[in-house]
Amino acid sequence: MVGFHLPARIYFNASFESLGFGVYDDFTLPGLDRMLWFFSFNWMQGRELCLHGKLLFYLEEIMDTHSVVSAYRRYAGIYDVIFGPVLEPGRRRMIERMACKPAESVLEIGVGTGLSLGHYPAATKITGIDISSDMLAKAAIRVKRAGLDNVSLMHMDAQQLAFDDDSFDKVAVMYVASVVPDPDAMMQEIRRVCRPGGDIYVVNHFSQKGHGLHWLENLAAPFAKLIGFRPLFPLADFVALTGLPLLETMPVNAFGYWKLLHLRNQPIGTEN
Ligand SMILES: C[S@@+](CC[C@H](N)C(=O)[O-])C[C@H]1O[C@@H](n2cnc3c(N)ncnc32)[C@H](O)[C@@H]1O
Repeated sequence: MVGFHLPARIYFNASFESLGFGVYDDFTLPGLDRMLWFFSFNWMQGRELCLHGKLLFYLEEIMDTHSVVSAYRRYAGIYDVIFGPVLEPGRRRMIERMACKPAESVLEIGVGTGLSLGHYPAATKITGIDISSDMLAKAAIRVKRAGLDNVSLMHMDAQQLAFDDDSFDKVAVMYVASVVPDPDAMMQEIRRVCRPGGDIYVVNHFSQKGHGLHWLENLAAPFAKLIGFRPLFPLADFVALTGLPLLETMPVNAFGYWKLLHLRNQPIGTEN
């Protein structure tokens, strides 16, 4: 097994016997079988391309902050048209479920162009942060036009929040979990700044093996940096990394393909 790393951040782990190059002494397939071997490749977990069950390449896109900022610089002008209506039911459902009270303070992570901001009750104090100044500039225009005096916007990295511990009652994370380079670091920061027993809501697309569209997730996986999110993002892995009790999961948006999660900021096993 040989591994090497291309500049495009495609990791190849090529097993030469799988390629049929005859580097192994015991490679004795007749010509026709060799052709079949060559062409009958398949995706296994979504990241590995296999030939007859043998690993051929391993593809993994590593998101980084630079690529996220570049992707959302490209999206900023068209984001509302492409991702506005299609993801709107999830935004609205989350804010309904949050049932914010006037005295509560809410942190919205990755607020983007601020599409959700008008849905919160006007008396609830909302702090929206984002790493993309291009997206935030659009949000600022929206806040000003709608006169949303309850909203403050800040340029900040979700993986390193500049807030004190226990600063917020509730945290909203809309379509961000599969975008941040390090969702684990983001969740640790969210746990820190959310008060103990506070509520954390996440809406995201989670990849599902066996789903009719899983082939598309596999196909898009090597282009995560270009498209600005990680298409392969299993729900169970995400919930496990939060280390928090999951109180509720509900399908949202078209075909229920996205999931809305309600987590509680307290140790697992202590929820009521
Ligand atoms: C798919 S958009 C979602 C925007 C908005 N929440 C919505 O509902 O449309 C993802 C947003 O997350 C932001 N983001 C990605 N990584 C981030 C990070 N590390 N810290 C803060 N924001 C981040 C992006 O800049 C982008 O605005």
